[in-house]
Amino acid sequence: MCGIIGCVGRTPAAAIVLDGLQALEYRGYDSAGLAVLDGDKLLVERVSGRIADLRARLAGRRLPGTTAIGHTRWATHGMPSEANAHPHADCAGRVAVVHNGIIENHRALRRALEADGHKFSSETDSEVLAHLVERSLAGGADLPSALRRAMREIEGSAAVACISADSPGVIVAARRGSPLAIGVSEGRQFVASDALPIVEHTRRVIYLEDDELAVLASDRVELFDRDGLPVPRSPTVIVWNAVAIQKEGYAHFMLKEIHEQPRAIEDTLRGRVAPGLIGVEFGEELPAGLLAGMQRMVIVGMGTSWHAGLIGRNMIERLARLPVQVDYAADFRYRDPVIDEHTLVLAISQSGETADTLEAVRLAKSLGVRTAVIANVVDSSLAREADGVLYTRAGPEVGVASTKAFTSQITALCMLAIRLGLERGALAKAEAVRRINDLCATGGELRKVLDTGAAVERLAGKYAQARDFLFLGRGAGYPLALEGALKLKEVAYIHAEGYHAAEMKHGPIALVDANMPVLFLALKGRRYEKIMSNIQEIRARGGRVIAVASLGDEEIVNQADDVLYVPDEVGMMNAVLATVPLQLLAYHVAVARGCDVDRPRNLAKSVTVE
Ligand code: G6P
Repeated sequence: MCGIIGCVGRTPAAAIVLDGLQALEYRGYDSAGLAVLDGDKLLVERVSGRIADLRARLAGRRLPGTTAIGHTRWATHGMPSEANAHPHADCAGRVAVVHNGIIENHRALRRALEADGHKFSSETDSEVLAHLVERSLAGGADLPSALRRAMREIEGSAAVACISADSPGVIVAARRGSPLAIGVSEGRQFVASDALPIVEHTRRVIYLEDDELAVLASDRVELFDRDGLPVPRSPTVIVWNAVAIQKEGYAHFMLKEIHEQPRAIEDTLRGRVAPGLIGVEFGEELPAGLLAGMQRMVIVGMGTSWHAGLIGRNMIERLARLPVQVDYAADFRYRDPVIDEHTLVLAISQSGETADTLEAVRLAKSLGVRTAVIANVVDSSLAREADGVLYTRAGPEVGVASTKAFTSQITALCMLAIRLGLERGALAKAEAVRRINDLCATGGELRKVLDTGAAVERLAGKYAQARDFLFLGRGAGYPLALEGALKLKEVAYIHAEGYHAAEMKHGPIALVDANMPVLFLALKGRRYEKIMSNIQEIRARGGRVIAVASLGDEEIVNQADDVLYVPDEVGMMNAVLATVPLQLLAYHVAVARGCDVDRPRNLAKSVTVE
């Protein structure tokens, strides 16, 4: 959602905060701002627009202050505008606050503060924080106590960083619900929504827990609990480095991340499975007891992670003979779900911060139900909340449209399916070895698919001006159709629908004419003949057919206008191979249409509000 960064040290901080905001822009980018403390003078500058606009506004200005906070916004309350951009100041302009989250009782708090004479200058929920802090400071509190009190008064989620002209050289930060990481180094400390903008300066990071507060000064970081008692906690060392988050020569993060998929998958498998060996080893993060005695699984997630869940369901039901239900986390949590101690609720989330997914896990826990999460971000809120975690090791995903996280999630789900199949006696050892060999061969096969990227680029040129698109598939091809359509919508702004191919005759076929490209997931397999019939039905109505097909399928050339071939030698993991042409198609169409691929309009990488 929004991104926060703060820096306090002995040298000027504004440039560091600006660079940090740039790294955080993927979290939201409709407006931005920063506040700098120079001695006891507070300067606040905000723009409606992107970090580049903020840089332009500040160009040529001397900003010697050594304490600064910044914010990049994704609007929830109030239009994207300069007045609604953060930091928000109090009435006297001596306190500045940046906030990520939603303050649910902001209207009541605002009314009470206005009745006390406070003047508001924005429509945001966040501004109440600045005035709450101001009120406590006026009552004699110091800055940490003032923010602690404000955090008690608000309901909802908040990651906050706050500075005051009365507390030079200090940043106070606090969190509830929304994430906050503290970077610890010699002579300079950082606070940010995630470690991404911090790793360039230090790898030593402390993740704040809910209701904790941190006080940062150039020479120290102190942590306190909700009652103001000190919390001892050593930093953990982040292994991701800044280089990993650069584009490495690719035009966009999305393209780079598509190409990182073989590595991401191999890293996700590393130490867990090996070719020719029976067994899947998850380590202590996913305790064996958590999976034992389970009679049912409910998978929850949102967006692309939900699509991965649909593919995982097929894998787990087939290999482990365990009933699996897949739910939107947002729906699950409000539906009074039927779950018991024999159920495992498995959340899937790249960021580990999606609000609905987090709340679904919290609900399951409150009902005494076991929970686990497949997450990409280490120590994210979901990873810490769930009883067990299986990390995908895709590395930081910066492109807003998820790519490598998706295929890594499928990889993790396939490992889980094999493990459960073995534990439940549903999977013969010989088949387990075959499936594990498939997993281990996937990275190599994926490299071959990536080598054919130029063919997809040519095809994208041909279809770039389409107004609508249909994606159809059966079995695992159905969630892939959903994912292919989602990618095209997200990055190329083309209206695209993903459908089960069998459902086509129940409605979508009415849309088909010569202007409608229809992409079929048509790999060889149990459903191949049915898909071929569906292709005929589209052709009979003049639709243009694109097929993602198995390498060596010569027959399909006669049926489809265009064919994108992928190898199909890795069984269930063929789903991962078939994903790549869909990702590349969306990417190249978006580029051809001049879209901002890494930062599509209206979207946020991590949706930390409901
Ligand atoms: C947003 C992102 C998607 C992502 C979804 C779920 O919509 O743009 O790419 O799939 O959130 O996020 P999660 O981090 O929980 O996987």
